[in-house]
Amino acid sequence: MKIEGSVAVVTGGGNGIGEAVVRYLAGAGAKVAVVDMSQKDLDRVVGDLKAQGKQAVGIQANVTSEADTARFIKAAVDAFGKINILVTCAGIIRDGTMLNLDKETGKVSRKLTLDKWQAVIDVNLTGTFLSVRDAAEAMVNGGWPGVLIPISSINKVGQVGQLNYSSTKVADALLPKIVVGEFQLRGIKNIRCVAIAPGYTATPLLKGMNQDALKAIVADVHLGRLIEPEEIASLIGHCVENEAMNATTVEITGGLCYPKGIAK
Ligand SMILES: NC(=O)c1ccc[n+]([C@@H]2O[C@H](COP(=O)([O-])OP(=O)(O)OC[C@H]3O[C@@H](n4cnc5c(N)ncnc54)[C@H](O)[C@@H]3O)[C@@H](O)[C@H]2O)c1
Repeated sequence: MKIEGSVAVVTGGGNGIGEAVVRYLAGAGAKVAVVDMSQKDLDRVVGDLKAQGKQAVGIQANVTSEADTARFIKAAVDAFGKINILVTCAGIIRDGTMLNLDKETGKVSRKLTLDKWQAVIDVNLTGTFLSVRDAAEAMVNGGWPGVLIPISSINKVGQVGQLNYSSTKVADALLPKIVVGEFQLRGIKNIRCVAIAPGYTATPLLKGMNQDALKAIVADVHLGRLIEPEEIASLIGHCVENEAMNATTVEITGGLCYPKGIAK
């Protein structure tokens, strides 16, 4: 599949991995619909692309809202006439252990709140489902060949302090198998689904993590540094172009060996 001339929708395209994906795909000749909650970031990214002569539109939307996902898919089709690529980079973390104990009494002093649990489920799982569902609907009805790319995480294997986040990311990693199985069942042959599971990547998201824990984790990465968002974007470009990539989740971690000496 060619990136040049295709139309891409990227959620969470205003920052981090999403922004790098938007810039990569636009650089390779795609027309891009950039979706984000942050109008300021949309203005910055889309303004920049337009100044470079690229075709881009910014759509402010919240992926947790069914009305919004329908609206941004329609806006992308209205702007560029079709959709071929969806990358769901909108994601959040709200870290915390399920239980916190009082050091003196040993009794539970604090619990992971339902708010923190629900916020992460809503954006990372429900938002991904709605975006994938509505993009697939447009591709099927429009007869456009396409690829759906949800973003999972290496923490799909389970990370202490991220019960909410890991639960969403293991579900996102399952999506390609289920969705492509469904496409096979329904005779939908021209739409693929491939998920990407990055390791620790240098984006604003990591500012919400315990920085001591992050430092310790990076010490266990064989690559010896955080992954750059552009490295994730180039893998996504490959997954778009290589039609044999399908119904799977591809890890890109730099060699995360954690706990000590064990590759995750
Ligand atoms: N950074 C990492 O180390 C890492 C590792 C593995 C997976 N991921 C995943 O990659 C994806 C992108 O992460 P990132 O590090 O680039 O994050 P980021 O915080 O840098 O960017 C996320 C973007 O999503 C937008 N967003 C958040 N909630 C939204 C919503 N409800 N609707 C629309 N937009 C929304 C934000 O405004 C922001 O621009 C996430 O799904 C994340 O879980 C990140």
